[in-house]
Amino acid sequence: MIVVTGATGKIGSETVRLLAQRGAATKALVRDPSRAPGGSFPDGVDIAVGDFERPDTLDAAMRGADTVVLISTSVPAHEIAAIDSAVRQGVRHVVKITNHKASESSPVDRRRDHARIEAHLRASGLAFTLLAPNLLMQNLFAFAPMIKQTRGFVMSAGDGRFGMVDSRDVSATAAAVAAAPAEHAGHTYLLTGPELITYDDVAEALTDALGHEIEYRRLSPAEHREAMIEAGVPEPAATSNAQVFGLIADGDAAWLSDDVAAVTGAPPRSLGTFVADHVSAFA
Ligand SMILES: NC(=O)c1ccc[n+]([C@@H]2O[C@H](COP(=O)([O-])OP(=O)(O)OC[C@H]3O[C@@H](n4cnc5c(N)ncnc54)[C@H](OP(=O)(O)O)[C@@H]3O)[C@@H](O)[C@H]2O)c1
Repeated sequence: MIVVTGATGKIGSETVRLLAQRGAATKALVRDPSRAPGGSFPDGVDIAVGDFERPDTLDAAMRGADTVVLISTSVPAHEIAAIDSAVRQGVRHVVKITNHKASESSPVDRRRDHARIEAHLRASGLAFTLLAPNLLMQNLFAFAPMIKQTRGFVMSAGDGRFGMVDSRDVSATAAAVAAAPAEHAGHTYLLTGPELITYDDVAEALTDALGHEIEYRRLSPAEHREAMIEAGVPEPAATSNAQVFGLIADGDAAWLSDDVAAVTGAPPRSLGTFVADHVSAFA
């Protein structure tokens, strides 16, 4: 049995779908089953209603599981509680979604958080595989309301290039690893799309797909932080997002890897494919 946490989220929901498609015994850990994409999970998927904040619900979900795909909003206490429950319940392998620059000395809080969780996982004695995605293409959905209203988006990543990856390929990698965990134990896979792109390329792809110009409006990270706070983003998240965009401007995400294809056997989706598949979300 494979338990997927964060199963209503971007990576987790597609991981559940792909595992079910493979015929793997799969359990989705969810706070609210009605938040499944389309309102329900595929036939045959077990649902465990639970919450990272309630260890008893984690224990109930993990009882009898061999493998856990661990996805959260990168809250250390949440993932640490899930790892501790996995140990208690005799789980053998954890597949963790992490950050490629997870480090205890990172200036970015979510990178320090992932480093803390990784350290706990290493110390747990469980076998594990780390999946470290570059920026997710699905982050672009956050631009959709602004693009619809103003035919453009604001961003503070300058001309920085990044190896943006479609979260469907992160899910495909997670499903492939979870279905055959032993051969992936101890590995860290870096997950990227097929090409390095910039936000100018994003604007151009959206312009081509929508048939009218979409503008990339450049802000400094400090201006962007203020704009995010004004738009209602909580201050800590706005601060760390702005920090990350500044790092991207300086080349922090300008890396590519062949790991998606090596693990899944299929090349990762390009930005063009992502935009073609989701153009209606931006129109
Ligand atoms: N975005 C990026 O560019 C990027 C890049 C690299 C790595 N990552 C990493 O990817 C991970 C996030 O994956 P994602 O984008 O798929 O996440 P997501 O779409 O934000 O989904 C988060 C999931 O966590 C669940 N959750 C939140 N609080 C919970 C709780 N107390 N108990 C149980 N479940 C809870 C949510 O459930 P509800 O539906 O109930 O809220 C949801 O299913 C993070 O670790 C992040 O650091 C992201």
